[in-house]
Order: sequence, then C-alpha cells, then structure tokens
Amino acid sequence: PYVNTKDILEKANKEYYAVAAFNINNLEFLQAIVEGGIEKKSPLIIETSEGAMKYAGMGDPLRGASLFVKMVREFADSLDIPIALHLDHGKNFNHIISAIKAGYSSVMIDASDKPLEENIKATKDIVRIAHAVGVSVEAELGKLAGIEDNVVSAESVLVNPDEAKYFVEETQVDFLAPAIGTSHGAFKFKGEAKLDYDRLKKVKELTNMPLVLHGASSVVQEMVEIAENYGADFGGSKGVPSDILKETVRLGINKVNTDTDLRMAFIAGLREFLHNNSKEFDPRKYMKTAKEYVKKVVSDRLELLGSANKA
Ligand code: G3H
Ligand code: 13P
Ligand code: ZN
Repeated sequence: PYVNTKDILEKANKEYYAVAAFNINNLEFLQAIVEGGIEKKSPLIIETSEGAMKYAGMGDPLRGASLFVKMVREFADSLDIPIALHLDHGKNFNHIISAIKAGYSSVMIDASDKPLEENIKATKDIVRIAHAVGVSVEAELGKLAGIEDNVVSAESVLVNPDEAKYFVEETQVDFLAPAIGTSHGAFKFKGEAKLDYDRLKKVKELTNMPLVLHGASSVVQEMVEIAENYGADFGGSKGVPSDILKETVRLGINKVNTDTDLRMAFIAGLREFLHNNSKEFDPRKYMKTAKEYVKKVVSDRLELLGSANKA
C-alpha cells in the first residue's frame, strides 16, 4: 500500500532499524527498487529531488510530481509492502507545494543554509500546510560537509544538539536530518571516513524522533570496479562504509538517503552490457544488467539497515 512516510519511520524508530530512502528520476530505477523491496519484504521510501520533478515533467515540476505519484502509487496499491513517496531537499516553496498537491506522502523543507530562526520560520510554514493535509515533514539542521574538509570548526557546520531540541519543539517536524559529517555524491572523505557519533547520540536523546542520514551512500567497491573495467573513471571516490552506517542506525538513524550508490550500480551495468553487446539497441534489453545491479545494491542495503522482513 501507499503510506505516510511517518508511519514507516515511527515503526523503525520504535524497533531500532532504518529504512533506505532511494532517489529516482525515472521508471527503471523505480522498478529495480520495488523489486528489491519485494524480495526483502521491506518497507520502501522513494524520493525525488526538485530537479527530478522538473526533469520528469519536462520543465514543469507539478507535472513531474504528478507523474511520480502515479508511478509509485500504481506499484504501491498493488503490493503488500508499504511504500511512501518523499520530496528530497525541498528548497523552493512552490515546488514543495506542488509535491504536496500532487500527492507525495512527505516533503523535506531544506532551509539548512539559513540562520536558525529563518530555518524555523520556513519549516513552520511548510509544517502548517503539510500537516493540514496529512503529509509529513522532514527538515535539516547543520550543513552537509565532511568533518575534516572544513577550514572552520565542526561546531559551525555540524548539528548543535541543543538547537535540534529547540528546533523540533518549535517547528513540530516529523523527522530530522542532523548534519554529522556526511556529504552528497561519490567523494565524501579525503582521508579516513569519520562521523560525529557523539553529536548523533545527543540529538537522539534530546529529540527521541526518527532521524535521517543524508549523503549515506557507501560507494560500493564492486560497482566502481565493474564501471571502471568498462571505461568509467571514478578515481578517489569514497563513501560511508557499512560498519559506520550500521553504527549510525544503532545510535538512532531511521532513514538512510541513497542516490549515488544506485547511480553507480546502474552505470556499471549499462557500461558492462553495452561493451558486451555491440549490436543491441532495444532499451528494454540494454538496461537489463543496469537494473539488476541497482536491485542488488537495493537488496543489500535493506538487509544491512535491518528493514528486511519489516513490511
Ligand atoms: O540530494 C541530492 C540527491 O542526490 C539528488 O540530487 O538534484 O541531482 O537530483 P539531484
Ligand atoms: P548520496 O549522494 O550519498 O547517495 O546521498 C543522497 C542524499 O542524501 C539524497 O538526499
Ligand atoms: Zn540529501
């Protein structure tokens, strides 16, 4: 069934596991994610960026959002696993409203680049509108940046736990993304991978709510190697290792955002297939290995995060 993201995450919070939230831009990634969810009997959170809404709608974000709702609902309505659709990093008020109008189950308001009181005000405005129509809300505190990458101190970029407590009380958000040292993309750490566990622990103690880890891709070595065997150059790429992810789940993370790992799995499969099948030009065939690799990465992640058999 198509469910509210809040229901998926409150269960995860009570039972100490995390649900992966996978970014999509098109049908093929969605199919692969759904297959992984069915195989692992896991709840799923599908998410799209504002850029994905514009891409799918050929420049019209509301049209793109409506397409995503229709695609996701069509699968969700006919399956036993709970599936939610979430807007990732909503920054533009109109785009967030479009996602709510189109029927997303939750939205993220990301005003994390603004001073605290402005972030609170922007978040409150969205919470009021979203909650009125049964849509849940995620917000973010701190900045997504690696700890050692910062010239300034961690204090100024990572979440402040006392602020987090104040923020959730003021805004009434349903889940919170605290910045603890991750960043988006395939190049997360220059040296050793390191996250601020103490900060995470404090935020959990003070808020006791579902928490979200952004920039959580692991940059799966197997996929990097396949892609590079067939012409890609991903030198220097590095993600969040599995044991670190597991520890963040133990400390209270319940939603683990994953985009890069799926993109890399897809490109690995696509490159491999095209290399080995120079005469093929049917998209349903040349995307087959790509989709299989995405499904594999999805299944592994659901298992690792503990959401397998939680549907
Ligand atoms: O948070 C970023 C996601 O990985 C999606 O980014 O704007 O390229 O769709 P995007
Ligand atoms: P990755 O780039 O690590 O996959 O992070 C995705 C993300 O946080 C989407 O919001
Ligand atoms: Zn993110």
